Amino acid sequence: MRKKIIAGNWKMNKTFSDAENFLITLDEELSERYLQRVEVIVCTPYPYLELAFDQADSGKFFVGAQDISSHDFGAYTGEVSAPMLHSMGADYCIIGHSERRKYHQETDEMINQKLKQLLENEIKPILCIGETITERENGITKKIIKNQLEGCCKGIELDERITIAYEPIWAIGTGKTATPQQAQEIHAFIRDWIAQNSSTRIAEDIAILYGGSMKPKNTAELLQQKDIDGGLIGGASLKIEIFVEMIDIAITSQK
Ligand code: 13P
Repeated sequence: MRKKIIAGNWKMNKTFSDAENFLITLDEELSERYLQRVEVIVCTPYPYLELAFDQADSGKFFVGAQDISSHDFGAYTGEVSAPMLHSMGADYCIIGHSERRKYHQETDEMINQKLKQLLENEIKPILCIGETITERENGITKKIIKNQLEGCCKGIELDERITIAYEPIWAIGTGKTATPQQAQEIHAFIRDWIAQNSSTRIAEDIAILYGGSMKPKNTAELLQQKDIDGGLIGGASLKIEIFVEMIDIAITSQK
């Protein structure tokens, strides 16, 4: 059975001391009972990764970055690469987030390179995909999702190290969550695509997270859906009490 995953994406938020307080409290709040039932991941901005690795030393949660370069080393000012993250001990890294696609013109081709970099460097990728509101209204959500999966995963042998995050763009930071049924429909579609492009076993092993205005009040219902294995949480992951509340809900919400 797939373990539930609650992953926080801090995006570009928190000062150093805010980050430190959050991580210390998270470590105090998490106990052994969480570990067996839910995997907790915190994706911090680069400058706080070292701090997060230190706090995560107790093994109660995992640490991820929010993006990487599609190159390994070289003259790419301002970029951080997969071998660098690996040498620091990163467990996970988000790639293909819609904010990267929008503000940094990232294409599926670039994301494909990043996915390869992460797998080569033993960092688990959290690959984000999702449609815009116009695409949904035009009835082409599945076509968009399929294109993104094909483009991002081209030439890659899929396996359980990869986590997929379905993040409908219209639901990110808007307070408009996809209904559990809307989300489940796309999650099932993604799992089917994985089965067709690898095997049923791999499709059953790969975790598919939902992201987009996930909050304590909608967490249980989303997580009860057959193909929703957890959440990639933005705004609601910034306050420790709320984040821990969502972890608690993930533990108790049985399918
Ligand atoms: P919100 O939870 O703030 O909508 O953000 C979701 C997200 O983009 C996570 O990567």
